[in-house]
Amino acid sequence: MGKNKLKKFRDMETIDFVFQYPFAVLKEEGFPLKEKWRSTFFKNNNPIVLELGCGKGEYTVGLARRFPDRNYIGVDIKGARMWTGACQARDEKLGNVAFLRTDIELIDHFFAPGEVDEIWVTFADPQMKKVRKRLTGTRFLSLYRHILTPGGLIHLKTDSPFLYTYTRLMARHNSIPVEIDTDDLYNGDGALTGPILDIKTFYEQQWLDRGLTIKYLRMRLPAQGQLTEPEADIEPDTYRSFSRGWIQCPDEMARRTADTGNQTL
Ligand SMILES: C[S@@+](CC[C@H](N)C(=O)[O-])C[C@H]1O[C@@H](n2cnc3c(N)ncnc32)[C@H](O)[C@@H]1O
Repeated sequence: MGKNKLKKFRDMETIDFVFQYPFAVLKEEGFPLKEKWRSTFFKNNNPIVLELGCGKGEYTVGLARRFPDRNYIGVDIKGARMWTGACQARDEKLGNVAFLRTDIELIDHFFAPGEVDEIWVTFADPQMKKVRKRLTGTRFLSLYRHILTPGGLIHLKTDSPFLYTYTRLMARHNSIPVEIDTDDLYNGDGALTGPILDIKTFYEQQWLDRGLTIKYLRMRLPAQGQLTEPEADIEPDTYRSFSRGWIQCPDEMARRTADTGNQTL
């Protein structure tokens, strides 16, 4: 592991609003703040909002700055990414932020039923081949139901036509009320304002730089009713694996972009 990453991990251990729990400890002892996030940690009765797959935590920190009367928790498995948001929140002394390093699949170990009011899913991998891994699939929606207040909000912001189409179909198929739906957030009719437009995540900025449109859905997850997968053939995204190469190898991406004149986007 690189020195830089190790330093980030060490920093994270010193930040008292970063929680990292090995599964063995979680299983043995449980998570001490479960059901007590408001009373013991935030020490207020304000709503709790999660950003799942938060990466550097742009929504977690950006929303916390704007809405001091709400509590924000960024969740990701990658500690070195969350370090950025955790350091910002520490340096700005934001009292309404926490970060949780865990697999989202374990999220109901950390929150009691109804303890969470809202969930943001920001630029998740569409998981085109693995339905079970899709953060807006039935498996995860059922998990969110365990912790969300009835009718709690779910926000999806994505570059992926596949994930957007899938989630819309999912909502329609399961009669999940959708309150906002746009396939081109930044070139809409101007009716939308606020943090969905103002805050841009690390990945989002990369997609925007490549000329991709950003899609946004806001829905309310009912507490009851069976959730089933929609049956439909959804056209796969064509750019995803290319983009991963870009993110990991900027030089190679620059070369390919020059070669293709962006034709592959
Ligand atoms: C494409 S990145 C997006 C990061 C950030 N939201 C953004 O827009 O810049 C997806 C993030 O989700 C995290 N992630 C994916 N699946 C996860 C899981 N099951 N549990 C925890 N984190 C997960 C990854 O570690 C990664 O940081």
